[in-house]
Amino acid sequence: MTSLSATDPERTIEFEFVRATENAALNVIHWLGRGEKESADAAACDAIYGVFDLVDIAGEVVIGEGIKDNAPGIFLGEQLGTWRPGSPRFDIALDPVDGTTNTAYGLPNAISVMAASERGEGEEHAMKNLPTFYATKMAYGPDVVRAIRDGMAPLQLDDPLDLTLGKVAQALGKRVPELVVMTLNRPRHAEFIAQVRKCGAALRLISDGDVTAAVSPSLADSGVDLFYGIGGSPEGILTAAALKALGGEMLLRMWPRDDAERAAVLKEISAEDLARVWTIDELVRGQSAIFCATGISDSPLLPGVRIIGKKAITHSILMRAKSRTVRYIRAVHDLETKTIHLRSVRKEAKI
Ligand code: FBP
Repeated sequence: MTSLSATDPERTIEFEFVRATENAALNVIHWLGRGEKESADAAACDAIYGVFDLVDIAGEVVIGEGIKDNAPGIFLGEQLGTWRPGSPRFDIALDPVDGTTNTAYGLPNAISVMAASERGEGEEHAMKNLPTFYATKMAYGPDVVRAIRDGMAPLQLDDPLDLTLGKVAQALGKRVPELVVMTLNRPRHAEFIAQVRKCGAALRLISDGDVTAAVSPSLADSGVDLFYGIGGSPEGILTAAALKALGGEMLLRMWPRDDAERAAVLKEISAEDLARVWTIDELVRGQSAIFCATGISDSPLLPGVRIIGKKAITHSILMRAKSRTVRYIRAVHDLETKTIHLRSVRKEAKI
């Protein structure tokens, strides 16, 4: 049974998560467009560590980052929070900057993003750690989920695209040419891109940042109907946490880059698990899932940070799977008084 108790630690802790992504986005603004993606990532991590150094939780990073290119990051197994006796235990997934390249070039589609789920004593991790670097992901929104629940044949990851688009169109009450499909602009998607064009649907190619892209079909006004593509596996878990609150769905299968990765991964998981298509409830099990993100630069999910005179305006989204409440938080920060707590200096610092 869903717990909506006032003593549920999720209900208060969730605002600390949003403070963390807000501070990360604010601490990154100096690095927008400066061509130094690692400095941007480091600034975001510094702010996230800094917030959690003051928060009474026992947080364990179960989905981290950094495996990509030894960039700075907050890694698997790290502890966040004060870990005082009695602090509630949370598993944490995060990407301090999803879209580091976009940030470095001053391009759209960068966010700071975290997800968390409360872990009871002796319970297993609720968030699945996918050992492959990449995964194939197909994400769709609540209207498609509802149509499937009402009897439409489910979408399948390996179906021909015309069949999938036909189902999405039917569920949304649109024609295929009215559908918008989003994917990362990568050579590995050449065949998929050609198929979208052949089917006559509209295509939106993005350079980076597939969390916002995969969440988009579940947002009423994003203008995106389907996300498909091969992108980071950790980003898939963050997406799953968001979709649990939004009522969307994602089908995900791990995608080893080559035989060497496949062989390495098969030492950790079974061939069945590697071949299997996972759904969001299998990727983030149970009812506890907080998702929050703050825009760094504009995306279909959130506007980026705006500096207007001596004020900085941030836009964040905060949601919980248990209540399915989705909060959009527009915060106005007075730059003359605003400070953020940074791990690097272990004190409050001006932005
Ligand atoms: P980073 O911000 O960590 O660089 O990730 C950006 C991103 O576009 C992700 O959103 C996406 O999942 C992944 O990179 C795709 O990887 P690649 O750039 O190697 O195709």
